[in-house]
Amino acid sequence: MIVRKSPVELEKMRRSGLLVWEILQKLAPMVQEGATTYELEVVAEKMISDAGAKPAFKGYYVPSAGSKYPFVLCTSVNEEVVHGMPSPKRVLKNGDIVSIDTGVQLDGYFGDSAITVPVGEIGESLKRLLQVTRESLEMAIGQVRPGNRLFDICGTVERHVTGSGYTVVREFVGHGIGTKLHEEPQIPNYVDRKNENPRLKEGMVLAIEPMVNLGGADTKIRSDRWTAVTKDGSPSAHFEHCVAVTATGPWVLTRP
Ligand code: CO
Repeated sequence: MIVRKSPVELEKMRRSGLLVWEILQKLAPMVQEGATTYELEVVAEKMISDAGAKPAFKGYYVPSAGSKYPFVLCTSVNEEVVHGMPSPKRVLKNGDIVSIDTGVQLDGYFGDSAITVPVGEIGESLKRLLQVTRESLEMAIGQVRPGNRLFDICGTVERHVTGSGYTVVREFVGHGIGTKLHEEPQIPNYVDRKNENPRLKEGMVLAIEPMVNLGGADTKIRSDRWTAVTKDGSPSAHFEHCVAVTATGPWVLTRP
């Protein structure tokens, strides 16, 4: 069942969404050569607690990993797709790309968003990877309105990504969000005909999160049991927003 939120609930989700946005705005300019991913973690954790919120990821149990995620951020560098763990040993270098993904719970409601940020000067092919991934998210957001269906979102991401010569990750998907971080429906970045194709209705909130690889689609999990990486070592980008379905179209909760 897909939970629909009332206007009062959407206002609460708006507050958590804007907190996540503020965190990502603060972190993005810290992504510089010589910085470590752990420095980002420290700043994010303080912002979350100062806001009276709780981190959504830290302590979140993921069955496939067999443990609770230990950080407030996922920081996934280059060929890391998702669930990269902040570390004082991970020193960023010019030409890297870093996906920063974070979520909070405020007043009972979750927000979740991700951006991929270049370190210094990145090459043309990486710039285009980031651009296409960002575009695929914006185009998917444009499909969020009552009467459209889930596959309109999935198919829009898939067509833009594959049409641009890249591949979508299949093992990780977007999701509904509300009083839980992960609610129905699952939102793959491709049309999965085994899944249902529900009609979008007012009050649904969707975390849409294209994960796009420069090379092959396949991923594997490192021996740390968390970090998902591309099998072929090619770089991967990730952008995410929470989007509410309203009578007049999409309301992106995770940006002003
Ligand atoms: Co998410």
